[in-house]
Amino acid sequence: MMDLLLLLLLAAPAHAWLSLEDWGSGSVDGSIGEFGQCVCNVFLPDTSFPADRVEHMQTSSNQLSVIVKLHINKVSSLKVQLVILLGQLSNLTARVENLESGPDKYIKLDFELLRIELREFEALVTQLKTSLNSSSPAFESLYIEIRNMSLIVDQLESYDRSNLEVIRIEFAKLQRKLEKCQDDKDDHSNAQIGSCKHEGILRIGKPVVSQLNADLNGGFKFGGWGKDSKPLPGSENMYWYSGFTDTLVSKVTQYTDYYKLITRQAFKTHELYDYYKYDWRGTGNNYVVRENTLYYQYRSPFGMAKFNMTSVTVQNKAIPKASTRFSYHYSANQNLDFAADESSLWVTYATEESNGNLVIGKINEETFEVEEVWQTSEYKNSITNAFMICGVLYATRSVDTQTEEIFYTYDTNKKEESHVSIRFEKFQDFYVYLDYNPTDQRLYMYNNGYYVYYNVKFKAD
Ligand SMILES: *[C@@H]1O[C@H](CO)[C@@H](O)[C@H](O)[C@H]1NC(C)=O
Ligand SMILES: *[C@@H]1O[C@H](CO)[C@@H](O)[C@H](O)[C@H]1NC(C)=O
Ligand SMILES: *[C@@H]1O[C@H](CO)[C@@H](O)[C@H](O)[C@H]1NC(C)=O
Ligand SMILES: *[C@@H]1O[C@H](CO)[C@@H](O)[C@H](O)[C@H]1NC(C)=O
Repeated sequence: MMDLLLLLLLAAPAHAWLSLEDWGSGSVDGSIGEFGQCVCNVFLPDTSFPADRVEHMQTSSNQLSVIVKLHINKVSSLKVQLVILLGQLSNLTARVENLESGPDKYIKLDFELLRIELREFEALVTQLKTSLNSSSPAFESLYIEIRNMSLIVDQLESYDRSNLEVIRIEFAKLQRKLEKCQDDKDDHSNAQIGSCKHEGILRIGKPVVSQLNADLNGGFKFGGWGKDSKPLPGSENMYWYSGFTDTLVSKVTQYTDYYKLITRQAFKTHELYDYYKYDWRGTGNNYVVRENTLYYQYRSPFGMAKFNMTSVTVQNKAIPKASTRFSYHYSANQNLDFAADESSLWVTYATEESNGNLVIGKINEETFEVEEVWQTSEYKNSITNAFMICGVLYATRSVDTQTEEIFYTYDTNKKEESHVSIRFEKFQDFYVYLDYNPTDQRLYMYNNGYYVYYNVKFKAD
């Protein structure tokens, strides 16, 4: 009997995802797996797990041994179920932990399945409670314990509901914490968020496919999604999405967090077009959001635009020499491509003067002018997309229907270009949006109407 309850309570700390509340004070030890993933054990602090109550239960269990014997038969069948469930729970944990290295081609977060498995766990706890029916006061306190456990399970369920993604983020945080603690940094360790103390991209993780766009429309192949690259205080978890059936950009939608995004509960949709009042539409689907402002290609007159979602105002400005003749390989009208990295806002484009080769422009965010340019030797139309990390441009091209490759880099710090081959899997062949976000070191892709992201691993400094 006691074994069973202890199993129930003590098994929990072995599953790191139970302790979302209190990563900070939990003690952590672990290592980095062969694929750079975090392999860790988490021991919960007493404050977040009822170790004291377990002790109390041990004491009361002695008084209860007689009563308990009567229940042993009932309980032993429950115990079998419990062992199975605990196995399933550790399987869930393993699945979360192995997101990056698992055998699945694409990582799809199966919220519903996890929710069902958690509900089974909750049902088992309820069953256990019923099987322990007794009028003994000592038993009464056990009831309370178990009810408390149900609450914990409820919390688990709400953690799951409110955001499985949180678990992943917490694992990523843990990973960074571990890496920080490690004396001998090996080449799997990633740079701290915001740091440029690395030697560029080592590899791109597997595509994580969140879901079809918020319009639930497979025809919305054009668009983008992601997070603010320099969020205003309090908006760190905000996501945005914009999707269309063509290259015209006419709205942008905001969500307070990832859960709201995937459950399509927007807090704001900004229309960039009102038939009677204004036409702020853009084109090309190559925008970024920075400081709650959408930077995008203005349709008419052609140029850069910033749509401040705080003040709901638009400002537009031409880029001298930027041409409308050159677009990326996958889609038309992608003439200006905005990008944000650890410190700056960038725009890339091609000019007639450069015969269509890509030009990198750094935007002065105060004046909204292109203040410095770098000329690359890559023809814009042969590139499928580009993004910036730490002042380095990364350009991609298509290898085949399933594979994309970063084939070219231009370092604006050193004015150096190089040809590289960093391949990564696409979810589907066609995508129009690819941008890096420095706040979580992820690449956001809008792939054939789906939200897809990739974790980026950097080479050690
Ligand atoms: C989890 O369970 C599924 C099906 O029950 C199984 O295919 C998978 O290999 C298990 N994963 C782990 C990491 O144990
Ligand atoms: C639980 O115990 C109470 C009082 O001892 C009794 O009335 C009730 O029928 C019991 N319930 C079950 C499911 O055994
Ligand atoms: C049940 O949990 C609550 C809040 O976590 C706590 O105050 C209470 O003492 C717990 N009950 C028992 C019997 O441990
Ligand atoms: C957006 O507008 C707000 C309110 O006027 C202003 O404080 C903020 O600086 C603007 N942001 C940008 C990026 O221009």
